[in-house]
Amino acid sequence: MKEPFAIAILAAGEGTRFKSRQAKVLHCAGGRPLIELTVRTARELPAGALFVIVGYQADAVIAVVKAIPGPMPGGEARFIRQEGPLGTGHALRCGRAELESAAPHLLVLYGDTPLLTAATLRGFLDFHMRAGTAATVMTAEVDDPAGYGRILRGPNHSITAIVEHKSASPEQLRIREINTGIYCFKTRLLFADLERLVPNAITGEYYLTDVISLLHGRGRKVAAYGATDSAEVMGVNTRVELAEVDHLLRAAKARELMLCGVTIVRPETVLIDPDVQVGADTVIEPGVSLLGRTRVGEGCRIGAFSVITNSEVADGVTIKPSCVISESKIAGGASIGPFSHLRPESEIGSEARIGNFVEVKKTRVGRRTKAQHLTYLGDATIGEDANIGAGTITCNYDGERKNQTVIEDHVFIGSGTELVAPVRVGKDAYVAAGSTITEDVPPGALALARARQSNKAGWVAKRKKKATKK
Ligand code: UD1
Ligand code: CA
Repeated sequence: MKEPFAIAILAAGEGTRFKSRQAKVLHCAGGRPLIELTVRTARELPAGALFVIVGYQADAVIAVVKAIPGPMPGGEARFIRQEGPLGTGHALRCGRAELESAAPHLLVLYGDTPLLTAATLRGFLDFHMRAGTAATVMTAEVDDPAGYGRILRGPNHSITAIVEHKSASPEQLRIREINTGIYCFKTRLLFADLERLVPNAITGEYYLTDVISLLHGRGRKVAAYGATDSAEVMGVNTRVELAEVDHLLRAAKARELMLCGVTIVRPETVLIDPDVQVGADTVIEPGVSLLGRTRVGEGCRIGAFSVITNSEVADGVTIKPSCVISESKIAGGASIGPFSHLRPESEIGSEARIGNFVEVKKTRVGRRTKAQHLTYLGDATIGEDANIGAGTITCNYDGERKNQTVIEDHVFIGSGTELVAPVRVGKDAYVAAGSTITEDVPPGALALARARQSNKAGWVAKRKKKATKK
């Protein structure tokens, strides 16, 4: 056994105070599920193994943890199932067989404490190892201790017990030192006393916190370690707290980008996911969302209220306000918006222009090509220097399948054109405005596909005359 400690993260609870169909630890803050945030922090420590205790919606929780890229202590995360969650003490008891043999010390974390940092945990572990205690509890002084377990101190200031909010006397409720839910135990002593837990009189749950008074009662050494930053150890029990945590994580990401040379005009209004990258001298206007694995280059401008998901935006791109862009690529110097919608698998060439109320789906638009107004381009390949007139529609769906439209280099599509796919417009060709194109247009040709106009001279005057006769 090389590493002196293993980690157990408790994530089996339902989270009733969330009033959700979804397990609490699957709800996101700062763009990541709560359980992922805790696992990512924990795995930075030099532990021998990392266990996650799952119960409510176990498969979904396991899937989230398994999808976290990068190495885990001991190779990969291990899972323990807690059937019918009966409290935090019961959760650990369910993993006795694996946990007891994992390492001499066990660091216990709750899956709903997402702001915790690895630096804080390192300080805590150092303290525990040096103190040689049976248990060390991380505590914090908070202004509003409501909901938390309170720390009871005995003579010579030693910690004697943790009393849960629901069981606390009025006097105990005034204690502002709380249990953060972060503990380090000598594994063998922990499991000996876990077996002695009795269900809480009010809730019927087996409380891990009761182990502290059991250890103390049997003369074991228990110590408290004060968290330096009480904000970091806040537990998320309601959606109000989820929003607070989300706000803090978003602010941290915006700050990190600003310090790397990104201008964010109203940083409190943007939502930027943790894996998003943005190059220097890009300006992000208010209300922008940059989500998933989006990468934005240098010297771009992202217009107000645009939402960009899993997309690549090269250098010098201008995105005007209110664009929705998903799973797409935009090459250097292109201009998008306002009010453009780029749906998955769209690729916009360098210096191309996609204007207002233009929807693009699974379509490649070539260099310097323009589609500036009121247009639908779906399942199309469009060459360079083409001009797509206002109101052009690729009729890509025949009711059964999607068909391709090909528009070659330097083509001019007149306004109000319908291109009934599959169809190809050859290089340099022109399509007259208002055409419904059902057949291929050869390179260099002019296609006219609309009814010929006829003018009836003097028709208005004749009609008026008829009407007055009646
Ligand atoms: C717990 C502590 C409390 C502490 C607070 C810190 C207990 C009894 N109380 O209260 O002293 O101040 O955290 O945030 O431990 N879980 C399971 N199985 C269960 C029950 C819970 O895995 O049977 C998991 C939950 O998914 C959650 C964590 O344990 O991630 C904490 O549970 P929660 O119900 O939020 O405990 P608190 O009431 O906040
Ligand atoms: Ca909690």
